[in-house]
Amino acid sequence: MVTGGARGIGLATALTLSEQGSNIVLTDLDAAALERAAATLGEGRCDGRLRCELPRGCPRCGKRRRRYFRVPGRYVNNAGFTRDAKMRMMTESDFDDVISVHLKGAWLGTRAAADTMRKLGTQGSIINVSSLSGKIGTARQTHHSAAKAGIARLTKAAAAGIRVNAIQPGIIRTEMVGSLRPDVPEKKRSEIPLTRFGEPEEVASVVLFLASGISNYMTGIILEITGGPHA
Ligand SMILES: NC(=O)c1ccc[n+]([C@@H]2O[C@H](COP(=O)([O-])OP(=O)(O)OC[C@H]3O[C@@H](n4cnc5c(N)ncnc54)[C@H](O)[C@@H]3O)[C@@H](O)[C@H]2O)c1
Repeated sequence: MVTGGARGIGLATALTLSEQGSNIVLTDLDAAALERAAATLGEGRCDGRLRCELPRGCPRCGKRRRRYFRVPGRYVNNAGFTRDAKMRMMTESDFDDVISVHLKGAWLGTRAAADTMRKLGTQGSIINVSSLSGKIGTARQTHHSAAKAGIARLTKAAAAGIRVNAIQPGIIRTEMVGSLRPDVPEKKRSEIPLTRFGEPEEVASVVLFLASGISNYMTGIILEITGGPHA
């Protein structure tokens, strides 16, 4: 399950996991983008009520009207947005919204997924999407930086009995970055050791590593995907 999976890092993650044979559940607020993402993912689709849409049933499960996805084996807390503003200009409601979707969303998602995995005894893996801004702090993102720092510590605190890890991407080329002030990207690029921004697929491959059995003995770890160290 990938939250905020209709585009950007979430969609790239869904595609990468799908290519490796996982069944994917996407959630997103943007219904049209979600529809496009589902079409990109291809066959075996289920609608929001988990009912098979295919006339002859699903090629994978072979049945119709069956609960296709019972247990999320891997849960990626990715959904998010930012409304950048200087601290003195930031509204309290924007602060609350960003904290709520990122930090509380990750807490709720981690709790629900871990609960299910524990009850059913599945060897699951939860991946929380933090950010470099949660490590070094980003101007005009006091809400986002605070939420992402919280996600990193939440990950460590929750990482017992079940695998919970986090990633901290730097600047990745998605629509979220397109919403930055025009002068910001160029200045930031010159500070990156690899001298370029990351691609969503480059984040997705690290999520795949944390989602797969290759990283079975890792929990409470925060991996940076930033094009090199930033302090
Ligand atoms: N792009 C970057 O440079 C970057 C860097 C570090 C961390 N991140 C984090 O990566 C994650 C994905 O970001 P992205 O760059 O792919 O952004 P994006 O804007 O391309 O995609 C985010 C998706 O999340 C969805 N979404 C927003 N709020 C939601 C909610 N409450 N419930 C469900 N879906 C919701 C949006 O509709 C959108 O489809 C975010 O948590 C972001 O903070 C991004």
